[in-house]
Amino acid sequence: MSEYSSKQKRGLWTSRFGFIMASAGSAIGLGNIWKFPYIAGMHGGGAFVLFFIFCIITVGIPIMISEMVIGRHTHKDPVGAFKKIRGGAWVIVGWLGVTAGFVILSYYCVVAGWAVDYLWLALQGTFTAQHAQQVPQLFAGLLSSDLSQLLWQALFMGMTILIVMGGVSSGLELANKVMMPILFFILLFLAIRGIFSPGGEKALTFLFSPQWSKLDPPAMLEALGHAFFSLSLGMGAMLTYGSYADEGTNIPKVAITVSIMDTCVALLSGIAIFSIVFTYGIEPAAGPGLVFKTLPILFSQMPGGTLIAILFFLLLVFAALTSSISLLEVVVAYYCDEKKWGRKKATLFMGFIIFLLGVPSALSNNLLKDVHFIGDRNFLDSIDLLATNYILPLGGLFIAIFTGWILTTRLAKGEIEKGEVRFQLYPAWHFLIKYVSPVLVALVFLNKIGLF
Ligand code: PHE
Repeated sequence: MSEYSSKQKRGLWTSRFGFIMASAGSAIGLGNIWKFPYIAGMHGGGAFVLFFIFCIITVGIPIMISEMVIGRHTHKDPVGAFKKIRGGAWVIVGWLGVTAGFVILSYYCVVAGWAVDYLWLALQGTFTAQHAQQVPQLFAGLLSSDLSQLLWQALFMGMTILIVMGGVSSGLELANKVMMPILFFILLFLAIRGIFSPGGEKALTFLFSPQWSKLDPPAMLEALGHAFFSLSLGMGAMLTYGSYADEGTNIPKVAITVSIMDTCVALLSGIAIFSIVFTYGIEPAAGPGLVFKTLPILFSQMPGGTLIAILFFLLLVFAALTSSISLLEVVVAYYCDEKKWGRKKATLFMGFIIFLLGVPSALSNNLLKDVHFIGDRNFLDSIDLLATNYILPLGGLFIAIFTGWILTTRLAKGEIEKGEVRFQLYPAWHFLIKYVSPVLVALVFLNKIGLF
């Protein structure tokens, strides 16, 4: 089989727009709407948010370009890609990525399941029937039922499997193209509304005026880790998506666009949520339930609230889906490319295994609530911390070193500038990926373990 036809068989995005939307779909997800506001709240806002944006620019964007370059150059899954370019111990970086796919998707489906539960509540008009004070209690109600969490988790995993089974262009691409733009506009609406609400000004101050003393080493690691999580980096998801891109695609442009969109969505969601926090006197550091305890209050108060609640949670589930499919895709691509499994078999089998892996996370608020891993965190929060603060930055560190020190300029520049593409900022990118990104990641790690 010629190389061209084997690539065709492997799947390609049908358009550049499709590739942008799919990558944005992978990046924008629970990380932006569920996680960013709650960790920003726990770490005191301002300084954390600014350091997060700094990490996006100096580490996130350069590494996203690297992953896409490696992916498109090899047209392979993460393990196959490192094997093809260099081999040896570098293959471990690919392995680390596939492992991260398993781990992250396992608990991602549980949190996405909470969003499905809220969609179900919205459909029944639950929020409108409640007093503002009662709305936050609904979350405790959900967490107290192991069974419903398991059911929603299973349902969400089922949907992820169905889309990934559909393959690259018909499944992944279509899902993304339709869902992403609507989500953006509804968040914009909620954020603008929030700014003009009584808590609006306080929310903006909380999010954007830095108190640098709050930026302690754990907060810095959390911000850096979240830059990786939010942009889907450090585990080969963008590498895998890049492997389905065609030669004329302008990779730097896609990476920058996706990163800007991702950051905007996180900030919009932060503004919307913290306006409610300060309007209704909720604790900013309320933890993982923050989004579920705040936005529904708004839905319970505003005219047409039920409809907006339905739309919002529907889109949140979609946003989670467009990310979960990219997590599963990394695992599936590995089994298809390296182990020569069929797509259907790989998706069904691995999807099921990951579902099982996620069961302890689904039970982590009841049955397993006394099982603490890291500090006083339950199972779900612990593996989230492990994956986000350690596996992803470590993967990212190696990807940066690989790109900056192993890939030749001829290969990297040649790959980026294929076709008509010209990358004026190549020297700046190369400097960032060779020196700045790896040093910054290393410093944040060392700082966290108390080396300074
Ligand atoms: N970026 C996704 C989010 O913000 C999560 C994700 C992480 C997806 C890593 C793929 C890879 O929700």
